[in-house]
Amino acid sequence: MTPSAEMLSVENVTAGYGDATVLFDASFSVREREIVAIVGANGAGKTTLLSTIVGLVQARTGRISFRGRDITRRAAHLLPGDGLALVPEGGRLFPFMTVEENLLLGAYSPDSRTKRKERLQEMMELFPILGERRALAAGKLSGGERQMCAIARALMSHPVLIMLDEPSVGLSPLMVERVFTMVETLAREKGLTIVLVEQNVTEALEVSDRAYVLDHGHVVRGGEAAILRNDREIQETYMGL
Ligand SMILES: Nc1ncnc2c1ncn2[C@@H]1O[C@H](COP(=O)(O)OP(=O)(O)O)[C@@H](O)[C@H]1O
Ligand SMILES: [Mg+2]
Repeated sequence: MTPSAEMLSVENVTAGYGDATVLFDASFSVREREIVAIVGANGAGKTTLLSTIVGLVQARTGRISFRGRDITRRAAHLLPGDGLALVPEGGRLFPFMTVEENLLLGAYSPDSRTKRKERLQEMMELFPILGERRALAAGKLSGGERQMCAIARALMSHPVLIMLDEPSVGLSPLMVERVFTMVETLAREKGLTIVLVEQNVTEALEVSDRAYVLDHGHVVRGGEAAILRNDREIQETYMGL
């Protein structure tokens, strides 16, 4: 196998809010078609890391590149058009808009806008439950359905890389399983590259190829997921074993 190309690279990024530094010299990389998990406790800086990648928080130092292009200072709203999509924590759907309206909002880049009807159809096939619920207000969806809707909305922009911020939080074990199965389907069958941010370390290390551990804003570990999940220290600190 030829080594796959690097898709996303975060090099020595420091970021924070006001006087508070939250990320310290953080580095990690993602190759094409990989599922890479970023795991860590609540408050470790996982969401801040994703916000910095998409330009909602400014990196104070370091460099972020996506498909070989420097995006460190690129405007957040341009990234979906570049092929980089974020599924925010909790999904952030518009509760009073229908499922279909929420999905269409995901296709605002000029390119995806022209193909949004076909794309919507594809989403209804990929997520049949959203097809059944398409005219329902998003606020009426169950937690699992809401997460699926948020993923589908991100996919509407036809990304090559999607980053999911704690998609399993607040879901029943069955729904957690479904969400992770969907993540695997997107990578293995649809050829997407995935960054999976999770506090659910056990499950995240099962579906991912590689993982990084974020601790108080520092990337303290990184490697093959299979190795990390057999690591005694990781098991004790994050997996309750
Ligand atoms: N908008 C914000 N303003 C100030 N501090 C914030 C903001 N968002 C997060 N923080 C702080 O940054 C730290 C990391 O938070 P966050 O990135 O949300 O961590 P995680 O996603 O790993 O739970 C926490 O101490 C949190 O209180
Ligand atoms: Mg978070």
